[in-house]
Amino acid sequence: MPTELKILIKRQEIEREVARLARAIEHDYKDNNPLLIGILKGSFIFLADLVRKIDMPLEVDFIRLSSYGSQTESSGQIKVLSRLNEPVEGRHVLVVEDIIDTGLTTAYFIKYLKRKRPASVRLCALTEKPSRRKTDVQIDYIGFTVPDKFIVGYGIDWNGKYRNLPNICYIE
Ligand code: IMP
Ligand code: MG
Repeated sequence: MPTELKILIKRQEIEREVARLARAIEHDYKDNNPLLIGILKGSFIFLADLVRKIDMPLEVDFIRLSSYGSQTESSGQIKVLSRLNEPVEGRHVLVVEDIIDTGLTTAYFIKYLKRKRPASVRLCALTEKPSRRKTDVQIDYIGFTVPDKFIVGYGIDWNGKYRNLPNICYIE
């Protein structure tokens, strides 16, 4: 049970960074009508804010993945809990993640996606913990690099809790 939550990234800072990411995405995709795929549940707030700042046609889909492991660490054994609705073949896909930790979840999902023959696949992550990486994943759009602490808030949970915090916090 967490004893104390400390603010790591304030909501205003998140808002600025999300706007910057949206501008970069807009610039790169122009008239490509990208398909943004949010990985549930952690990306739901980030994706909701991001798409409202992108001023061009796009579509949104979600996938739910789970990784078996301890409460705070991914095992790399990933299961697809709910599938995609939109066809991916020929689409410019942008995967939207809350946090890239070991990178195992995202690496698995990108491999899964590429079998469906999209026109392109890029990755946008709100946060990453580079010190914990166990696999090579290229992050095309990155919000914040965070230290090796367990973070929560702005969609990111601990045991299902704290997703509703407006700031990104860490658990002491
Ligand atoms: P990875 O496969 O190790 O990159 O882990 C990815 C998933 O683990 C993320 O999408 C989160 O759901 C979870 N995760 C990793 N680090 C944290 C954290 O600091 N706080 C909350 N969830 C985390
Ligand atoms: Mg996640």
